[in-house]
Amino acid sequence: MKVFTTRVIPEEGLQLLQHAGITVTQWSTERELTQEELVAACQQSDALLFAGGKNIDRAFMEQCRHLKVISLLSVGYDNVDLKAATELGIQITNTPEVLSNATADTAFLLMQAVARKAFYQHKRIIKGEWGFSAPTANLGIDIAGKTLGIWGLGHIGYVMAQRCRYAFGMKIIYCNRHRNEAAEQDLQATYVSFDELLQQSDILSVHASLTPETKEKFNKDAFSKMKPTAIFINTARGGIHNEADLITALQEGSIWGAGLDVTNPEPMQPDNPLLDMPTVAILPHIGSATQETRNAMSRLAAENIIAALGGRPVPNPVNHLYAL
Ligand code: DGY
Repeated sequence: MKVFTTRVIPEEGLQLLQHAGITVTQWSTERELTQEELVAACQQSDALLFAGGKNIDRAFMEQCRHLKVISLLSVGYDNVDLKAATELGIQITNTPEVLSNATADTAFLLMQAVARKAFYQHKRIIKGEWGFSAPTANLGIDIAGKTLGIWGLGHIGYVMAQRCRYAFGMKIIYCNRHRNEAAEQDLQATYVSFDELLQQSDILSVHASLTPETKEKFNKDAFSKMKPTAIFINTARGGIHNEADLITALQEGSIWGAGLDVTNPEPMQPDNPLLDMPTVAILPHIGSATQETRNAMSRLAAENIIAALGGRPVPNPVNHLYAL
């Protein structure tokens, strides 16, 4: 059996595949594969391990319908046409939960970086602007005791809420498709409507999937309902916020700050005005990028492939989720 990977993957997943007797070919060139190259590589393979690249659309899968599985090295699956995959009989899998701590840590990091204008202060030193300091200069805002609003209380949102509750004694409110009784008991979290989330959050952290319903949910209208002192954090998908509206909201003071690990579009261009704002912190989509987490993701992605190629149920199927 043969697997093609769209990037070089962490060693532990690679070894699992090889020990299972699978031949692995990795795309190791630092350039995106063209669609023709990807199709050609997949035509020599039984499975695709997708670790980044262009969206997996119906046209691609129609040419590669022999693939037993497309194993995503991500929890997000918004880049795949799940309906087409299911109709064509291609199994799609993802890597949930193993990246929850690392991604929540990134949201936690951005929250603090924004509150204390950390990235901006760092840039001032590089530019030789440390200079004269005064008690009224360089002021950030406190986080302790403030209200954290979670939009999308899945695994990552839950870990972020835990971090904030235990480290900063924050009050937790959340808006989700379903109530989460564990969070209500363990974290004294309060279930609120979307408008209440916007109005009451001091920090609002996005942890939802990108779907047609969540696309650009955080737009001019949403930002206008938030507190002028609020911080918006997005470590989920850039498509969930309208970036032009976010820039205007920050410029006009509808909200105070923003921390993004995901941007809309990606990659962010270096002349984006967000990069010069004191109360903004941007990272280049590195939420799950720790050695331990990426190894765990690669193991899970490999296990999904080994199961599919062995004709066994895969640990993390996502095909059915398009119908939800
Ligand atoms: C994920 O796992 O979905 C990360 O955001 C990487 O895309």
